[in-house]
Amino acid sequence: MSEYPMQRASGCPLSPPPPLRALAAEKPLHRLEIWDGSAPWVVTGHAEQRALLSDPRVSVNEHLPGFPHFSSSMADTLDQRPKMVFNLDGDEHSRFRRIMTRAFTVKRITALRPRIQQITDELIDALLAGEKPADLVQQLALPLPSLMISELLGVPYHDHDFFQRTSRVGISRNADPEEHEKANRALTEYLVGLVRAKADDPGEDVCSDLAERVGAGEITELEAALIGVQLLVAGHETSANMIALGTAVLLDDPDQLAVVRAVADDPKLIAGATEELLRHLSIPHVGQRRIATADIDIAGETIREGEGIIIDLPLGNWDPAVFPEPERIHLGRDATRHQTFGFGPHNCVGQQLARAELQTVYGTLFRRIPTLTLAVPFDELDLKHDALAFGVHELPVTW
Ligand code: HEM
Repeated sequence: MSEYPMQRASGCPLSPPPPLRALAAEKPLHRLEIWDGSAPWVVTGHAEQRALLSDPRVSVNEHLPGFPHFSSSMADTLDQRPKMVFNLDGDEHSRFRRIMTRAFTVKRITALRPRIQQITDELIDALLAGEKPADLVQQLALPLPSLMISELLGVPYHDHDFFQRTSRVGISRNADPEEHEKANRALTEYLVGLVRAKADDPGEDVCSDLAERVGAGEITELEAALIGVQLLVAGHETSANMIALGTAVLLDDPDQLAVVRAVADDPKLIAGATEELLRHLSIPHVGQRRIATADIDIAGETIREGEGIIIDLPLGNWDPAVFPEPERIHLGRDATRHQTFGFGPHNCVGQQLARAELQTVYGTLFRRIPTLTLAVPFDELDLKHDALAFGVHELPVTW
């Protein structure tokens, strides 16, 4: 039996692993062996992914026996993880989710766009004033989403080193369990302090909203802090990876870069190009984990109650039935049905914020620095094969 996850091929690191693509071409779901010897269903078809991600018989409850954990460290730290949107189903999930989505209304994100533009411009000014070559991850890709999520939450930016470091350990798939727990505890304590401070001195930010809900008796102080931690953790590392990897891919492909430059002033076209990059790069690449709570018939197979399910988003985004010639980046195609932000009740809460950041960077960077190039060949970039979100560790650029 084949094993999951599989390695990407060294010559084409942006493609899902070729053996998995070959299996996906045969049928939309297969049983594959994972690290603990179990054989959950790995779902690769776009339609089947959507059906299962929105099926109430499919659960994210990682405490159920048979749940296909990412790694032994994730299984070992099971009891240390609090209840949160990622691991709750049904009404319990909706209760937290409602509080989160209130913070990310389209209106609030639209109002943030000028600020995203301003920060992007300031970071590019600082980049241009500094030495070459420079690391675009440290100079732009990481600080932009970190600044935005910290402003949205009301986290003072001078604490950004602390929360970048701790959240990186907090989401690492292979972190030592002790380190993992220490990082999450430190972030939680930090957020408890912040929610308390906002209760006394509220502002126009999400932590102040959370403090208000604590005051109204809707959630506890700890729950408020955990919501803040989840947004902080989910809100900067993923976007940073997508900014950096998308930039690297464009700099490596003069034809696509010319397309992006040509549409940079047209918000609709730059939004379309961003969706295609999100589809093609599919940075959440380790499979979304689920478990069946009843027998489910799908695509001629029966997933039995208690069997694990892994939704491989990159393969859904490369399903040729939905996206012809999926291996081609075609910035003009309608890629809006991609699943890089998930689908169903757990779809990404922060997707409008992420889109606003990505569109701003792709629409600004190459216009502001027309001579921007990679300072090392693309195939020498250090790719994040081991992280929850695919990306580059560093992006050396020059101009
Ligand atoms: C390019 C950037 C991003 C990508 C690719 C991404 C991807 C995803 C995916 C695939 C899921 C669904 C997980 C599942 O169903 O198992 C998800 C959920 C989530 N994302 Fe994002 N995300 C991004 C940015 C953000 C940002 C900026 C925030 C917050 C500020 C955020 C907050 C969340 C939260 C809270 C959830 C959990 C929702 C739930 O379980 O109900 N994400 N994200």
